[in-house]
Amino acid sequence: MTELSQNVSLAINAGVAVITVDNPPVNALGLAVRQGLAKGISLAGGDPEVKAVILIGAGRTFPAGADIREFGTPPQAPLLPDVCQSIEDCPKPVIAALHGTALGGGYEIALAAHYRIADAAARLGLPEVNLGLLPGAGGTQRMPRLTGAAPALDMMLSGTPISAAKALEIGVLDEVCDSGDLPAAAQAFAVRLILEGALVRPTSKLGTGFADMAAYDAAIAERLTRLQSRARGQKSPFKIVDCIKAAARVPFDEGMRLERAAFMECLASDQSKGMIHAFFAERQAARIPEASRAKPRPLNRLGVVGGGTMGAGIAVAILNAGLPVTMIERDADSLAHGRAAVEKVFQRNVAKGRMSAAEKDAAMGRWQGATDYAALGDADLVIEAVFEDMAVKQQVFARLDQVTRPGTILASNTSYLDINTLAAGISRPGDVIGLHFFSPANIMKLLEIVVPAKVSDDVVVSAFALAKKLGKVAVRAGVCDGFIGNRMLATYRRAADYMVEDGASPYQIDAALRAFGYPMGPYQVSDLAGGDIGWATRKRKAPTRPPEERYVEIADRICERGWFGQKTGRGYYRYDEGARTGVEDPEVLAIIDQERAKKGITPRTFSDAEIQNRYLAAMINEGCNILAEGIALRPLDIDVTLIYGYGFPRWRGGPMKYADMVGPEVILGRLRDYAREDPQFWRASDLLVDLVAEGSSLDDLNKRTEV
Ligand code: 3HC
Ligand code: NAI
Repeated sequence: MTELSQNVSLAINAGVAVITVDNPPVNALGLAVRQGLAKGISLAGGDPEVKAVILIGAGRTFPAGADIREFGTPPQAPLLPDVCQSIEDCPKPVIAALHGTALGGGYEIALAAHYRIADAAARLGLPEVNLGLLPGAGGTQRMPRLTGAAPALDMMLSGTPISAAKALEIGVLDEVCDSGDLPAAAQAFAVRLILEGALVRPTSKLGTGFADMAAYDAAIAERLTRLQSRARGQKSPFKIVDCIKAAARVPFDEGMRLERAAFMECLASDQSKGMIHAFFAERQAARIPEASRAKPRPLNRLGVVGGGTMGAGIAVAILNAGLPVTMIERDADSLAHGRAAVEKVFQRNVAKGRMSAAEKDAAMGRWQGATDYAALGDADLVIEAVFEDMAVKQQVFARLDQVTRPGTILASNTSYLDINTLAAGISRPGDVIGLHFFSPANIMKLLEIVVPAKVSDDVVVSAFALAKKLGKVAVRAGVCDGFIGNRMLATYRRAADYMVEDGASPYQIDAALRAFGYPMGPYQVSDLAGGDIGWATRKRKAPTRPPEERYVEIADRICERGWFGQKTGRGYYRYDEGARTGVEDPEVLAIIDQERAKKGITPRTFSDAEIQNRYLAAMINEGCNILAEGIALRPLDIDVTLIYGYGFPRWRGGPMKYADMVGPEVILGRLRDYAREDPQFWRASDLLVDLVAEGSSLDDLNKRTEV
């Protein structure tokens, strides 16, 4: 065996050169890997003993892409597109043997090879769009030559990998290996090629995918229309379409130049910087101080108390992860309701073809229900999701304290209530933690793990292990009113309400924030979630609200009319029977006018940019307060929370990354400007003031925080 570089080796076996990439954990295509591959291809190509070449990954996967950590640094030769070209130009047949996740640049290497074989469990994909990029090593030019436009666009625009079976069907693979022994299958495939005298088959010279140009162009037009409504200001999806369009119209080399230029343009953009930040932030959020001090407890039997909106959704998330769950409700009727809510989700999945009837039955087979808490006697972890009422929750925790064994983790899904108080009320506060799921709990990726004062380290570590099992992105939060996410929401929503009272309409605010990249504006979200929830919270907090705090009553006036949003057919918007998108409501505008008149406010105009700036400044400032209080460990934890739980556009990297891109001093300047109207609300966070004074960024704070 020859070492080609520190992580690529070459072995020759019966005339077949096997080039193996061994760069754990995901065989990313960093400089040394590219150097090794280029050298290996050159050696194998020039060696008269070698009749065919296999490219394969050691460990768990074929290369899962370019090394994303290199993206901030100047590119170093050999560049990946050139490595791919040398593979395609090799005079001997090159076979890519794929297993694990052949993604991004890894998949592009496979496309440049002359033949492709994959393990049956392999996943193939081009996830660059999730990083604000496009395939930049020939993917946009080679894949459509094999498959036509539709499969290529679907893979590149969704970023979602496909199975080996699907890849075979669309013409990307030559063979799927079912034996589980990919190296042997690849060797046999290579020997067969040699015996058959098979020739090289450069993908760039193929044109199968261009056979039906009408279908090719129709696929482009159709995806473009969809993007125009859904891609909300993003650059890379449109560049992908441009490249696919060009692939069928210009010579290969010119297409490659176009792809390269588009890739470099996207790489230099704030959008890709934001998305790359989000990629690493999501993974770093799982790094918590407790991890070095404790191991997770077993999590085999889970319980949920409450089968309402959240309890049922959490139960589905648990069942989807293949775990059993016991649901407790207060009476048989409520339990039946909870079970039906769970089953309905699975039924819909079956109807949409996302799940088979047998899978649904198996999931429901793992569901158990009871009205007697004794059914939780053998649970490892119980999640309470009953009404948002401290007295009710305290009763539930007292029962859980009695029926569960010591060591059972007792979690609350409370949105705002003090988990320290809940913990203090029972005999083993060390087992109590907050697990704040988001609605719908089986879909939303975020899990805020709220860490009360007395919790044991192994309980915190177990909560993160649970999140991983459930496929959630977990963020560690401290105890305060609303934790990270809801506390920030309360603040930026106030900024929006102030703008409404001062002259903007809720519709203009929603539109301005959609233009920023949010899927929905705050008033649409309020109508979707139900205005009654926030109303109840406001009433609960009214006695402790500081008298000097500016309070906007518009939402209360709307709720007093029973207009709670979609579920009542009216909220900020009016909803026709069964409609999910609302229309503007002149009566709401009249209520707003009355409230302004009552306070003697002369409405003024707001530009969309000012709306965005104020909303973001309020959000970032509260984020800084949360950091200063230690509620969030790092700015990146706030970014992950807002992206995965609150619809913040991922391509903007999260509010704290956005603050760095705009410039912390610019945000501070805006806060000081707004503070002239309302010094209390717009008081700049000391942490932000200090950062600006020392010329630091929020990202410096990410790096400085040792975990
Ligand atoms: N570059 C650098 N590091 C990477 C990486 C990459 N492409 N992919 C994963 N990693 C790192 C992760 O940051 C993580 O590091 P950590 O342990 O220090 O936190 C480690 O590898 C393991 O990753 P995961 O925790 O994500 O492991 P999973 O098993 O859950 O997932 C995966 C594996 C599906 C490969 C997932 O890591 C993934 O989706 N990676 C990104 C794939 C991707 O986006 N590829 C395209 C890159 S862009 C490109 O190729 C451009 C080209 O067109 C020119
Ligand atoms: P819900 O009203 O839909 O469900 C509550 C359920 O708890 C009801 O089915 C009720 O019968 C049951 N219940 C009440 N007392 C009980 C008891 N003593 N024993 C067993 N069951 C009991 O409420 P929802 O929306 O599911 O909220 C539950 C919790 O989740 C609250 O703390 C809420 O703040 C929190 N939450 C809610 C979110 C949402 O969007 N709805 C989001 C995140 C958290």
